[in-house]
Amino acid sequence: MSERKFPAEVFARVDESPDALFYGEPRFALHIDDATIAALTQLYREELPPGGRLLDLMSSWVSHLPGEVRYAHVAGLGMNAAELDANPRLDERRVQDLNREPALPWPDAGFDAVLCAVSVQYLVRPVEVFKEVARVLRDAGKVLVATSHRLFPTKAIAAWRSLPADARLRLVGEYLAEARGFRQARVVDRSPAGADPLWVVVAERAPR
Ligand SMILES: C[S@@+](CC[C@H](N)C(=O)[O-])C[C@H]1O[C@@H](n2cnc3c(N)ncnc32)[C@H](O)[C@@H]1O
Repeated sequence: MSERKFPAEVFARVDESPDALFYGEPRFALHIDDATIAALTQLYREELPPGGRLLDLMSSWVSHLPGEVRYAHVAGLGMNAAELDANPRLDERRVQDLNREPALPWPDAGFDAVLCAVSVQYLVRPVEVFKEVARVLRDAGKVLVATSHRLFPTKAIAAWRSLPADARLRLVGEYLAEARGFRQARVVDRSPAGADPLWVVVAERAPR
C-alpha cells in the first residue's frame, strides 16, 4: 500500500459509509467565498497554459477557471453526475469514487495540468491518487491543490480535522513526495482579506 508511510488513523473518518451515499444528492453550493473563488481564478489565469488540456479532480458544478480563457479540453471527475452535467467548463465528465478506485481512466502524459479544489481532505488513498496524477501529467505539467478551511466534517480525514493550516499543507506536500514524480512543491498563499483563506500547493511533474 502506498499509504503505508502514514498511520491508518490519519485517514479515519466519522462517516466510513460509501461516499456514493453522501454525494448521491447534488449540492449546487459554493464551498468558498466569492473573493476566494476570484483569487483562485486569478491563480489559474497565471499558472495554467491557455489552450492546454486540464483535468479537474473532485469536480462539481463549478471549476473556477477564468471565463475568458479557452482550453483545448477540460475533463472533470467527481462523485455526482448532476453536478458534473451542470458544470459548463467540462468537455468530459467521469463519475468515480477515488477512495474506492484511485486509478484514473486517462492515458499517460495526456494533461498539462491537474486541479483539485477544496477537496483533498476527503481522500483516504491520496498517495495512490497522486501517483496517478503524476502518470497522467506531461513532463513539467502542474498539479494545483487548492485548500481552505471549510469542510464536510464527517467526510474529512481525521488528520485534516485536527491539524492547523500549515501542517495540512505539509501533509499535502508529503502526499506528493511519497507519490514521487513531482519536483519540490511550493505553497501559494492568496488568501483575500475578510474571506475564506486560500492556500494552494503547486508542483511540477518532474521529467520522466
Ligand atoms: C467541497 S466539494 C468541492 C467541489 C469543487 N472542486 C469546488 O471547488 O467547488 C468536494 C468535491 O469532492 C468530490 N469528492 C468527494 N469525495 C470524493 C471521492 N471519494 N472521489 C471523487 N470525488 C470526490 C465531490 O464530488 C465534490 O464535488
